[in-house]
Amino acid sequence: MPTNRQVILAKRPAPGIVTPDVFTVKDAPLAEPGEGEIRVKIAYISLDPAMRGWINEGRSYVPPVAIGGVMRSFSVGTVEASRNPAFKIGDAVQGMLGAQQYAISDGKGLVKVDPKIAPLERWVGGLGMPGWTAYFGLLEVGQPKAGETVVVSAASGAVGSIVGQIAKIKGCRAIGIAGGPDKCRYVVDELGFDACIDYRSGNLAEQLKAACPKGIDVNFENVGGDILDTILMQMNVHGRIALCGLISGYNATKLPEGPKNLRAVLTQRLTMRGLIVLDWANRVPEAIAQLGAWHREGKLKIREDVRTGGLETFTDTLNLLYTGGNNGKLVLKV
Ligand SMILES: NC(=O)c1ccc[n+]([C@@H]2O[C@H](COP(=O)([O-])OP(=O)(O)OC[C@H]3O[C@@H](n4cnc5c(N)ncnc54)[C@H](OP(=O)(O)O)[C@@H]3O)[C@@H](O)[C@H]2O)c1
Repeated sequence: MPTNRQVILAKRPAPGIVTPDVFTVKDAPLAEPGEGEIRVKIAYISLDPAMRGWINEGRSYVPPVAIGGVMRSFSVGTVEASRNPAFKIGDAVQGMLGAQQYAISDGKGLVKVDPKIAPLERWVGGLGMPGWTAYFGLLEVGQPKAGETVVVSAASGAVGSIVGQIAKIKGCRAIGIAGGPDKCRYVVDELGFDACIDYRSGNLAEQLKAACPKGIDVNFENVGGDILDTILMQMNVHGRIALCGLISGYNATKLPEGPKNLRAVLTQRLTMRGLIVLDWANRVPEAIAQLGAWHREGKLKIREDVRTGGLETFTDTLNLLYTGGNNGKLVLKV
């Protein structure tokens, strides 16, 4: 009997890094699509930092993944059976298809993608959700203007790498913060940022001051913690902080102390706004068109880190995100 291998949430994790007993891998019978449905053969699963939050109990922007349910994930693949007139066999699609080999979908929320424009894995990376996050988060929330200084943390990663390149396209000075000399070299030499600071090499405040002599106008924040606190002290009057992620705290075992330098929001009249990419779901075609055009024109470089260990390595692969073990958008080949 044909089967569908799935990553199942076995239990809620304890605070801290996800342990191997949190997920199990199981083979379910391969389902046939019902009326109005399609079956997608998944090629790549996106590993996202937010997954750590999706498996916790509690209030968030999406309900927690159910215990016993297939792990939620953005995935990309090819339609192999269709009883929905909007999709034909061979169409490539991307969406919340889950961490599994095959997904049944009614097609709602799926985005058709073109493998002739970019390989499938890129459609869950720079041309997919992380790209849309960078695009809307920077332009709508950060509101950068030519000549301004934009600082982005986790700068070599899926979202950060796109943010800095869009900042450059918009005529800004782009400064990255990343872990280690190799990532920083990539950010400057390959992606074209003006500078990149290795936050692990000590004295972030001094390094930031040297890289941003006119202060910071826009912070696209992916990390939080000490990095955000340091940036707060160098924000210019009426600066904007696009709060995209707080990855330094996702595996915290006790509540973080909170921003120590919140006073800067008051004295510098800063705007700090949280963003969730799903809020721009109805404008995804615009993001794809613009990101795709920049990519074609050679203005936007995109890198994936494709892991090939299979669904059995889901937990270990996911955990790479929280130690900086990934180089570019982390995806798991199915
Ligand atoms: N709001 C939204 O809608 C939305 C959507 C997508 C992503 N996000 C957020 O955007 C951020 C980046 O996500 P991504 O998918 O682009 O991941 P990514 O940057 O490709 O990978 C995560 C990176 O975060 C850095 N990191 C991990 N722990 C850290 C720590 N304790 N201190 C400093 N840096 C740390 C590591 O880079 P280094 O090696 O440089 O430290 C790691 O490689 C995350 O916070 C994520 O939750 C938000």
